Amino acid sequence: MQIKSSIAIFSLCLFGLLGSAWSATPTGAALCVTCHDEEDLPDMSKSAHGFSADKRVPDCITCHGPSPTHAKKPADVSERPHPDRMFIRKFALPANERSAVCLGCHNKDPKRALWAGSQHDNADIACNSCHKIHGNRDKVLGKTTQPDVCYTCHKEQRAQMSRPSHHPVTEGKMTCSDCHNPHGSAGPKLVKRDSTNDTCFTCHAEKRGPFVHQHEPAVEDCSICHNPHGSTISPMLKTRPPILCQQCHTPHVAGGVGAVGGQGGVAALVGSTSAGKNVVNIWQGRSCLNCHTQVHGSNNPAAVSPGPQFLMR
Ligand code: HEC
Ligand code: HEC
Ligand code: HEC
Ligand code: HEC
Ligand code: HEC
Ligand code: HEC
Ligand code: HEC
Ligand code: HEC
Ligand code: HEC
Ligand code: HEC
Repeated sequence: MQIKSSIAIFSLCLFGLLGSAWSATPTGAALCVTCHDEEDLPDMSKSAHGFSADKRVPDCITCHGPSPTHAKKPADVSERPHPDRMFIRKFALPANERSAVCLGCHNKDPKRALWAGSQHDNADIACNSCHKIHGNRDKVLGKTTQPDVCYTCHKEQRAQMSRPSHHPVTEGKMTCSDCHNPHGSAGPKLVKRDSTNDTCFTCHAEKRGPFVHQHEPAVEDCSICHNPHGSTISPMLKTRPPILCQQCHTPHVAGGVGAVGGQGGVAALVGSTSAGKNVVNIWQGRSCLNCHTQVHGSNNPAAVSPGPQFLMR
């Protein structure tokens, strides 16, 4: 007989399990499902861990242990002993031991190579804090359903994502794992690549440069100026210019306060009022960005250093 569909394989295996349950004293996983039938447990037949002809796929015992006294309650005890390994509720194994069960099989993928000692591992978050085994739909794997899983613990990020200027996560076009590897990272804050910037460049490649004139903070870390989740200040800025820029620079316009070298250039560019003050009020319009349009770096060949930079396209 040639079996073509996985459904056929599934029913064959389930039949195999139940078959042995009918024919002789059931053992192993077949014993478990005599009590834990489909009425008791949610259907997981279509999940990656559903009964399968594939020997690599775990069954009840691989994860929960053989649990002999649980499956066959000894006559001399009043209450049924617990199974060997539980993953939820009061008698669950410690987080690292629960994760060890999963890592027994899932330790080869490079995506999970940095799990040990990662922020989640250190905080006693286990694989099953995010992944649901019993069921056909693991919410954390779905692009649109994933954020809700994360938000159960990370409430602040939900608030940030609902600010007016945000990455389109609430719109379902992006998800947390587009930027984070929740299984561990060589970069800060579990970012997906080895650094925050490399993570941003996966989608915003045009910001990578290299530029003739680099702007140091943009080379260092995009999140110096941007909140990657969301902000009330567009586009996702942590602070509004000019304050954003004045964290590092002395203002050189608006009445000549704190003039720096280059004041003449500014005057030439913007002209002067009859009172002799610069006409541009840095608190208006796009502030510093009225003139410095290229804050991520510029290839303007007219720029001389030190001198005007990040000015024109
Ligand atoms: C003779 C019936 C029977 C058999 C066989 C049986 N169980 Fe159970 N199991 C129970 C009962 C009853 C409970 C308690 C259900 C409850 O409290 O809701 C339970 C609970 C559990 C729980 C949940 C414990 C918890 O509270 O988190 C797990 C896990 C479990 N069984 C796994 C297994 C595994 C694995 C096998 C096979 C090795 C197995 N069971 C075989 C009857 C059985
Ligand atoms: C891949 C590992 C794995 C396999 C295989 C597995 N379980 Fe579980 N089981 C878990 C985890 C993790 C939980 C915690 C709830 C969840 O993730 O859905 C759990 C929860 C349970 C519970 C408690 C459910 C509840 O909501 O109260 C029972 C009962 C149970 N398993 C029995 C079984 C039986 C019977 C089988 C075989 C048909 C089985 N498990 C196969 C990992 C596994
Ligand atoms: C006996 C080996 C084994 C164990 C133990 C095991 N898995 Fe798996 N798991 C597999 C196999 C095989 C697959 C399907 C092939 C693949 O994607 O690698 C799979 C797939 C998955 C997937 C991908 C599902 C999908 O739809 O793509 C997730 C998530 C997962 N396992 C999580 C877990 C978690 C969490 C545990 C511990 C509670 C666990 N596994 C324990 C073997 C195992
Ligand atoms: C903080 C939540 C979280 C925890 C904890 C977690 N995962 Fe995941 N896992 C995810 C998310 C999100 C995805 C989907 C995106 C991705 O592949 O990174 C995923 C995907 C997977 C996949 C399938 C994707 C693939 O690589 O094809 C497997 C297998 C898996 N996780 C296993 C594990 C194991 C094993 C552990 C524990 C050592 C674990 N996960 C802990 C969130 C988590
Ligand atoms: C069960 C609770 C829980 C879930 C679910 C969870 N996390 Fe976490 N997460 C934590 C804890 C606890 C820490 C470590 C303490 C901290 O920094 O907040 C952490 C740390 C982090 C960090 C690193 C923070 C830092 O300061 O280095 C990131 C990023 C993160 N989680 C993202 C996610 C994403 C993305 C998801 C969903 C795929 C997720 N988490 C799901 C509890 C959780
Ligand atoms: C566009 C990329 C991106 C997306 C999408 C994203 N994050 Fe982040 N996240 C980051 C970066 C970058 C940092 C580090 C920020 C920093 O260093 O100030 C971070 C930091 C965090 C932190 C650590 C606390 C903090 O603010 O420093 C948590 C927790 C977190 N993210 C959770 C999430 C969750 C949950 C989601 C999905 C709802 C998500 N992130 C979506 C890029 C992203
Ligand atoms: C997975 C792809 C992806 C990654 C990774 C990513 N972004 Fe984005 N980014 C987007 C998308 C999609 C938009 C929305 C574009 C639109 O609405 O037209 C966006 C928009 C933006 C905007 C402009 C928002 C606005 O209101 O115009 C900023 C700023 C931004 N991203 C910064 C970052 C930073 C900083 C990082 C790294 C922490 C990053 N992005 C990582 C996809 C990504
Ligand atoms: C010095 C502060 C600063 C740093 C650092 C910075 N940005 Fe920006 N970014 C801004 C400002 C200000 C704007 C608004 C520019 C405008 O309106 O002309 C902006 C706009 C954006 C936009 C939307 C408009 C556009 O130009 O596409 C994206 C996307 C963006 N930044 C991505 C990044 C990425 C990726 C990094 C890291 C490589 C980064 N930014 C680093 C200040 C910064
Ligand atoms: C985190 C600190 C920081 C922030 C925030 C910052 N810069 Fe810079 N900026 C620097 C550093 C460092 C340099 C290179 C050293 C220098 O020349 O002063 C630089 C260089 C410049 C230059 C070129 C200076 C020259 O000598 O040619 C301009 C113009 C500039 N920044 C404008 C801005 C604007 C506009 C903003 C706000 C959108 C801003 N910067 C935000 C740190 C910062
Ligand atoms: C009206 C246009 C204009 C505005 C607004 C403006 N700048 Fe400039 N800026 C210039 C010009 C032109 C130069 C080059 C001057 C020169 O070198 O002769 C310059 C030079 C600079 C330099 C380099 C100074 C140096 O030592 O050569 C920095 C840093 C700078 N601006 C930051 C800012 C910041 C921060 C703001 C907002 C608070 C701002 N600029 C607002 C036009 C402007």
